[in-house]
Order: sequence, then C-alpha cells, then structure tokens
Amino acid sequence: MDFSKLEAVSVRIDQGIAWVTMNRPEKRNAMSPQMHREMIDILYYLATAPEAKLLVLTGAGNSFCAGQDIKQFFRELDDKPAEKYNMLLASHEWRWNQLTRFPKPTIAMVNGYCFGAAFTPLVACDFAIAADDAQFGLSEINWGILPAGLVSKVMLDSVSYRNARFYALTGRPFDGRKAAEMGLVDFSVPIGSLVEETTKLAQELLAKNPQTYRSIKEALHHLRGMSPEQANDYLKAKESEMRFLDRENGRAQGMKQFLDDKTYRPGLGHYKRETE
Ligand code: COA
Repeated sequence: MDFSKLEAVSVRIDQGIAWVTMNRPEKRNAMSPQMHREMIDILYYLATAPEAKLLVLTGAGNSFCAGQDIKQFFRELDDKPAEKYNMLLASHEWRWNQLTRFPKPTIAMVNGYCFGAAFTPLVACDFAIAADDAQFGLSEINWGILPAGLVSKVMLDSVSYRNARFYALTGRPFDGRKAAEMGLVDFSVPIGSLVEETTKLAQELLAKNPQTYRSIKEALHHLRGMSPEQANDYLKAKESEMRFLDRENGRAQGMKQFLDDKTYRPGLGHYKRETE
C-alpha cells in the first residue's frame, strides 16, 4: 500500500509497530468521510501485512480525535440520505468491526482531545494509554444529539453506570488521570513519556506468542454475551482451534521449559520463544 497517497491519516511502520495517525490537526483530527474511507483501506492492509505486527492509533498535533466532523459528517450529509447511509456503515466498519477483530495487538495512544465518536475506536483497541492532561468528553448533550454509534455502549461497558451517566448527562470534560481512574484507559502518563511508555508496552506485547494472543483476544471479545454453558463450550472449541493454528506449539514449549528444563516460571513471564 502506498501510504504517501493518504491525506486524512498517516502511517509509519517501525520495528513491527504500525503507527496510524489521524491526521487533520487543523480540525483537531475530527473524522471526515475521507478519514473513514482511508482507515478502512489501511486496517485491511495492516491486518495481514507481515511487516506490521502491532498497531498504535493516535492523533496528529494536540488532539487524539475531536469526534465526527460536525460539518462534513453531520451537516453536509443531513440532506443526502444515500451518502449518509454509506458513511454510517463506513464509520462503524473501522472504528468497531475492524479494530475489535484486528488480528494483532492494538493500542490507542491518546495524546490530547478525545471527544464523542472517538470513544468507539478508543475502547475497540486492546489497550489505551492517555496523556495525564488529555481532555475527554461526551459532548453530545452539549449540541443536541445522542452519544450514538456505540459511544454510549462502549462507555457503559468500560466504566461504572454512575460514571457513564454522569459524563453522558453533563457533557463535562475529564482528563487522562480521571479516565484511568474510571477504567476508560489502562493508565495515564505525562505527555513527555507517552510515546516511550506506549513503545514499552508494544514491545512487551510483541514478545508474546502471536497466536495465543489472538485467540485470547477473540475469546474475551465474544465471551461477554454468552451464558456460562455457552462460554465453557466455546472456550473448549477455541482452545482446540488455537492449538491447531499455533505454529510454534507454545503449550508444549511452555510445559517443557517449566516442568523439564526448569528454565522459566509461567507465572512471572513467557516461555523462551525461538524467535527471541
Ligand atoms: N467537527 C468539525 N470541526 C471541528 C471539530 C469537529 N468535531 N472539532 C474541531 N473542529 C474544527 C473547528 O471548527 C475549527 O475549525 P476552523 O479553524 O475552520 O474554525 C478547528 O477545528 C479548530 O477548532 P477550535 O475549536 O478552534 O480548537 P480548540 O483547540 O480551541 O478546541 C476542541 C478544541 C476539540 C475542544 C473544540 O474544537 C471542540 O469542542 N470540538 C468539538 C468536539 C466535539 O464535540 N466532538 C463530538 C463530535 S461527535
């Protein structure tokens, strides 16, 4: 894929990490129709590109993403039902379908403003790290719309009911520290160490057995809606699938290195992989 042709997004791949940057800093990286279309192509490409082993989603300038572009996504599509229909599908496709099913680790690196519709890709990523002073907000109540496009649902799934109601019904902004305290992001750090801490987490994830990682991620995604009986059966089947797909046979390696070679402790770290 020729990344140089992209306009609303930029992509850089460095040592296995694909840095995908929403790139409309003059509009605080608000999501335009063009950004949605570019993201779909990028994520399809990166999902199978061997040079990309992990994805970091972030924003250019002082913003992660100021939500949907209120002019281009709302006002200009209000009287164009066909285009609006297509754009609602496109917006949902990458922010939720592609990101939650992305077959490699994903990290949202929230470098600044994160409003409204940006919550969906934020929660869809496996991990989220924010700058302490990044500003988050469910601003929909401030301009007469619902936190739709899964925004209300991902908020409810991530934080307590009371916190979800408080921020959706007041529209009050909150910072990265508060987002971490509520569990909306994993942790927050000073902006100066955001890239370093994200890279550190990325390297930790890159050292894992990729098939085991992918299978656990898929299982966690689907298990939430299942009954205990369904979950039990699904996990048995998933385990068999994983062992069939795992080219490095991590289960046998892990047992051998712990029980026979006594070279590591599974409780404290992962087994020695041949790629290391
Ligand atoms: N949609 C469209 N344009 C947006 C936008 C959005 N979501 N967010 C910012 N912009 C545009 C502004 O209109 C402005 O454009 P202009 O330079 O042509 O006038 C430009 O980006 C800079 O925005 P500005 O408000 O001047 O920047 P700021 O740094 O003072 O404030 C925000 C940043 C993010 C706090 C503010 O822009 C904002 O509240 N944006 C809307 C956030 C929101 O409610 N999103 C939910 C949408 S679902």
